Amino acid sequence: MKRKIINWAEPFLDNEEEKNILKALKTTWISDGAFVKRFEKDVSKYINSKFSISVNNGTSAIHLVYLALNLKPGDEVIIPGYGYLAAANIALQMGLIPVFADVDIDSFCITSTNIEKKITKKTKLIVVINTYGNIYDLDEINKLGKKFKIFILEDAAESFGSKYKGKQSGSITDISTFSFQATKIITTGEGGMVSTRLSKKIIEKLQMWRNHGVRDKRYFHYLPGNNFRLTNIQASIGCSQLNKINKILKKRKSLYKYYKYKLKNIEGLKLQRFSVNTEPVVWTLAVILSEKKFKRRDYIIEKLYKQGIETRNGFYSPNNLPLYKKFHSKDLKNSDLLSKQVICLPFHNQIERKDIDKIVSTLIKYRV
Ligand SMILES: Cc1ncc(COP(=O)(O)O)c(C=O)c1O
Repeated sequence: MKRKIINWAEPFLDNEEEKNILKALKTTWISDGAFVKRFEKDVSKYINSKFSISVNNGTSAIHLVYLALNLKPGDEVIIPGYGYLAAANIALQMGLIPVFADVDIDSFCITSTNIEKKITKKTKLIVVINTYGNIYDLDEINKLGKKFKIFILEDAAESFGSKYKGKQSGSITDISTFSFQATKIITTGEGGMVSTRLSKKIIEKLQMWRNHGVRDKRYFHYLPGNNFRLTNIQASIGCSQLNKINKILKKRKSLYKYYKYKLKNIEGLKLQRFSVNTEPVVWTLAVILSEKKFKRRDYIIEKLYKQGIETRNGFYSPNNLPLYKKFHSKDLKNSDLLSKQVICLPFHNQIERKDIDKIVSTLIKYRV
């Protein structure tokens, strides 16, 4: 019999999705359609945002924001040194300059102090990434945005449902983006969303850049836009996912509690820390393994996989990527450390306590 792997991530799907997909199919609206509008409204309502526009993935969502904010080659975008590098990749693609600011070693998130050091006259946007579901220092970062008249983008791809001082992730800054890729808190397979409280003019730009620059007249292109549209079938999945969001979040919260209990007081192992201001929905259970107390992180990942446990390494710091050679910086000490020492443990709705028992007991075998 094939050995069952504890996957690092899995979507939580049931017959609700099946029913909605069939509904979408039967209407024959499989590209655009009523579910798309409904999903956008449902997300806006859930996160309490003025406006949301769906897109085909979280990377397009960021791309769309850069286009709608009229970022031009040579403009600087401040980006965390630790986090999924979609915002940096799109910056490179568009000829923008990614300026990396270091993250806090405990929360894994960018800080207002580190951002402020990097602001110049060319800074046009600050990207905050809510890594692994954490939201950190956003009040202070928003204040910086106001002071220097720079927009703040909340990359909330990993933090759907997390709250900061009572506010939903995605509604805390000027503009935010989500990913609904299959490993995310809620999924549409591939998919994304931009939410904003900015002006009608920006909203109109978002709409046009998403859809070939068309506004009111069919085939009349005001801008050289993209096709970043989400399909009705994907949106139908999103609607069913949002319907059971409370169930999804409840399970994640209880898993986190159990993991915390099991991982407490293990020498050389530190969990990502969430501040008292944050009510997180954990996306993946990230821990730092001390190089002195544990065997090599990548060796452990390999060994765990052989024992049926899929884990992931942390993100690469730009300092470890030849692609970002021009932007390497001595100021990214924490990002560099996390990049080497973070391991992400399985975390999804199908995980059971006995899985966590197995994951933890296997992991601690690799202490030195
Ligand atoms: C923080 C962050 N931003 C952006 C993205 C890109 O989203 P997508 O994979 O939907 O393009 C991801 C995806 O994993 C992410 O984690």
